[in-house]
Amino acid sequence: MTDPLPPAVAEALASVLPWASPGHFLTGLEPGLDGTLSLLDLAVALRTHQDEVARARPLAGRVFAGMFFDPSLRTRASMAVACAKLGASFVELQPGTGMWTLEFKDEVVMDGMAAEHVREAAGVLGRYADVVGLRAFPTRGQWKRERTQPVHTAFADHAGAPIVNLEGPFAHPCQGLADALTLRDLFPEPNGRKFVLSWAPHPKQLPMAVPHSALWAAASLGMDVTLAHPEDFELDSDALATADSLARETGGTFSVTHNRDAAFDGADVVYAKAWGAVSGPASTSRGHADAVAHLADWSITQKDLHRGAPARFMHCLPVRRGVVVGDDVLDGPLSSVLDQADNRIWAQAALLLAMMGK
Ligand code: CP
Repeated sequence: MTDPLPPAVAEALASVLPWASPGHFLTGLEPGLDGTLSLLDLAVALRTHQDEVARARPLAGRVFAGMFFDPSLRTRASMAVACAKLGASFVELQPGTGMWTLEFKDEVVMDGMAAEHVREAAGVLGRYADVVGLRAFPTRGQWKRERTQPVHTAFADHAGAPIVNLEGPFAHPCQGLADALTLRDLFPEPNGRKFVLSWAPHPKQLPMAVPHSALWAAASLGMDVTLAHPEDFELDSDALATADSLARETGGTFSVTHNRDAAFDGADVVYAKAWGAVSGPASTSRGHADAVAHLADWSITQKDLHRGAPARFMHCLPVRRGVVVGDDVLDGPLSSVLDQADNRIWAQAALLLAMMGK
């Protein structure tokens, strides 16, 4: 026998369920604004009543399968922990090391390295698991194709089960949901608070998924959102249009600037993230290296956090100390990075319960 869910959790779950069936979570925009806010309420209820929830085991007998084409610490561990907290099982797979290498092209003669087609792999996983999670970064091919998150879309087409994006080329919705939770923890009344997402230097051409999801998270809460980046490091234009539209809907604002000093004035939150350009001179590896060499002053310092009331510092992690941000910021009292990582557990527990807890 298991205990019943605490009433606060049951109530919050009931308000999320209208969205949850039979939804994929590929961009994080699928629940809509009301659904997202309900997921945040459910995450808070799960975090507040975690001991009772662990006794209730609301997802006993359910299975979440996570396939990681690319490395992860937080996403992998926090999904395993979220499953454990809810009584679900977590099955983890790594194509190319612990499982067969996959083929994604249709009508192909599979006489190369790939031993299994995504049609069978996805179909099998969809039979084994109630929800399938996928991490697959962009391969620095054509952005027009990458932005459709082709690996995730292939699984969504063939799994016959809901798919959760554990970070793709276009979005990192689990990170975005956890970041929204952290922002609401910091500012219970987020309307009118200034959120600055700032590009930061990094030797690698990292994906744009986190910055897209972070912009959407802050805009969904009605914050005044400023995106600051050097010329040539534009984010996806549709992602920016979505941030603008969310901000208008929630009473917030959205603006883009190349002037980092002006951006930090009066900031309540500075969210740092590195990403690579998808077009123009900085999009090649040589062009990226040249650009980053001239943009070291985009690294976040204590001074950047004190251009008004002290601003909180956020980053999704992993972060390169001394490159993206100084040690004193990361180790100082204004850093929220560990709270962000902690909230991954509760945001994802809310998502899993909404998707599997009927
Ligand atoms: N923030 C994040 O997704 O961390 P991992 O890459 O370690 O999963």
